[in-house]
Amino acid sequence: MSNNKEEKLFDFLRRLSEYLECMDLVKYFDEINGKSEIILDMENSVKDEPFFETKKFEIFDFRLFRIVNYVLVREFKPNVFIETGVMHGLTSQFLLHAITRNQSGKLISIDYPSYYETGPSNKDGYMETLPPKREPGWAVLEKYKPNWELLIGKSVDKLPEVFEQHPVIDIFLHDSEHTYETMWNELTMSWDKIKKGGLLICDNIDNNTSFFDFCRKINQIPFVCPQDVSDNNSKIRFGIVKHK
Ligand SMILES: C[S@@+](CC[C@H](N)C(=O)[O-])C[C@H]1O[C@@H](n2cnc3c(N)ncnc32)[C@H](O)[C@@H]1O
Repeated sequence: MSNNKEEKLFDFLRRLSEYLECMDLVKYFDEINGKSEIILDMENSVKDEPFFETKKFEIFDFRLFRIVNYVLVREFKPNVFIETGVMHGLTSQFLLHAITRNQSGKLISIDYPSYYETGPSNKDGYMETLPPKREPGWAVLEKYKPNWELLIGKSVDKLPEVFEQHPVIDIFLHDSEHTYETMWNELTMSWDKIKKGGLLICDNIDNNTSFFDFCRKINQIPFVCPQDVSDNNSKIRFGIVKHK
C-alpha cells in the first residue's frame, strides 16, 4: 500500500467530513488499516471457500465503498442501519464490525439471493452469484450475528415490514438490484423514514439516472464518490445524502 493511496483517501475523507458537517472521518481509518481485526476476520471468513482465490487481504482490497461505510457507522453511530443487497456479506461484515465497536446499533439486511445453482437474480446485467451451496451472508462470522437481522426476499417487498417495525431509521444503504425501478422505489420508500441528520447511501449511481433524479426530487445536492480514490480516471460509483 503506497502512502500516496492513503493520502488520497485522507483528502477524500476530509472533503466528505466537510460535506457531512461531522468530525474528521480520517481517525476511524486507523482502526481498519494494517492487519486489523476486520482484515483478519475477512481472511477467516473466506479461508475454506475455493470461490475466493485470494486468501490474504489488505484494506485497499475492499473498495472505497466499504471503507466509507465503515467510517460512517463509526461516526454516526446508527441505532438502525438498513442495507439492501448482501451477496457474500462482505459489506455487512464491515458494517457489523463498526456496530460492534460502537457497542450499540443493529444492521438489518435484505437480499433476494443469487444462487450459483439458479443464477443471478439481478436484472441489471450484474452476473455475480454466491459460491455453490452458499446462502446470502455466508461470510459473516458468528460473533457478529447478535446485531444482525437478515431478511430474504425482494427489497421492495420486504421494506414495508421493516419500516413497520422501525418507523425511524438512521442510515439506508442501497446495493441490491441497480435497475432504475428498484433503485427509485428503494430510495423513495426509505427517504421519509431516515431521521434528521441521518444518511442515504446509494451504490452504482452510474447505472442509470435514478439517484440523481431522486436528489432533484428531494432538492438535495449529493456527495458523489469514485470507485477508487487513488485513480484519477475512476468513474463515479456511489453517492451519499444527509437528511438535513
Ligand atoms: C451487488 S450485490 C451486493 C454486494 C454487497 N452489498 C457487498 O458490497 O458486498 C447485489 C445483491 O443484491 C441481491 N439482489 C438482487 N435483486 C434484489 C432485490 N430485488 N432485492 C434485494 N436483493 C436483491 C443479489 O442477489 C446480490 O446478492
